[in-house]
Amino acid sequence: MPELKTGSILDGKAVAAKMREDLKKEVDGLVSGGARPPGLSVVLVGDNPASELYVRNKISACKKTGIESFLERLDASAGAAEIIAVIEKLNKDERVDGILVQLPLPGDLPEKEILEHIDPAKDVDGLHPYNLGCLLAGRESLRPCTPSGVVTLLEHYQVPLSGASVVVVGRSQLVGKPAALLLMEKNATVTICHSRTRDLSQVIGGADILVVAMGKSRFVQGSWIKPGAVVVDVGIHYERGEDGKQVITGDVDFEAARSVASLITPVPGGVGPMTVAELLANTVRSYKKKVGS
Ligand code: GUN
Repeated sequence: MPELKTGSILDGKAVAAKMREDLKKEVDGLVSGGARPPGLSVVLVGDNPASELYVRNKISACKKTGIESFLERLDASAGAAEIIAVIEKLNKDERVDGILVQLPLPGDLPEKEILEHIDPAKDVDGLHPYNLGCLLAGRESLRPCTPSGVVTLLEHYQVPLSGASVVVVGRSQLVGKPAALLLMEKNATVTICHSRTRDLSQVIGGADILVVAMGKSRFVQGSWIKPGAVVVDVGIHYERGEDGKQVITGDVDFEAARSVASLITPVPGGVGPMTVAELLANTVRSYKKKVGS
């Protein structure tokens, strides 16, 4: 058997930069023809430092792409009715093509109920039940950004999806479930694992492509991974190393996994930038549908 080349990087940062560049050209073309720019509104409730960072990144990416951004900040004490009132206002705002409510919401706010108030045509996160239903039904719709980013990244590197055995670890509405649907749409054979899955390491060992979105730092061991598999790590954790310095980790033990996988995403610089690029792409998609170009 020829020796497998291991540990090449799925460079989400580079692929996302190319996507943003293409989107910028498209937006510049539309705006130079006299149209208004696309607009994205981000609703940030409370002051979770990770959410603040993600929102800053999204707004900065909008600026670089020629998309107008609007930030709606609400206090952590805001109630559901107050947040819904902001969403209803944005639904009516002609300058706004996309609305994103940054998750998680603080306290025990009813996340799903709040998201249902976003106009599905402006739901650039693809998390409204209408858009999730369209995804299930195989109909055109706004698709969730992180799972779309995973598929775009795999396709960019020409990883064969049709007929591939894909294992998705994590069954969240934000990532695991939509990722499984998108990968099935590409004719992959998908297994979803979760906290109750028996013999998890063995199931993982059967994967040609492993997508991990379980939210546990460095949980997946290198020894579980099939030699030559493609590994996509959706997790991101901010930890302190033994020297007290911050380390950023994923759900996979990167160094060990890299020595067996053929291709692997780094954390950071893998899936994260792809999520932002897909958000911009959804905003432009929703804009074009509205202005009819
Ligand atoms: N928090 C972490 N990821 C996401 C995402 O993709 N969308 C939203 N709205 N919040 C998030």
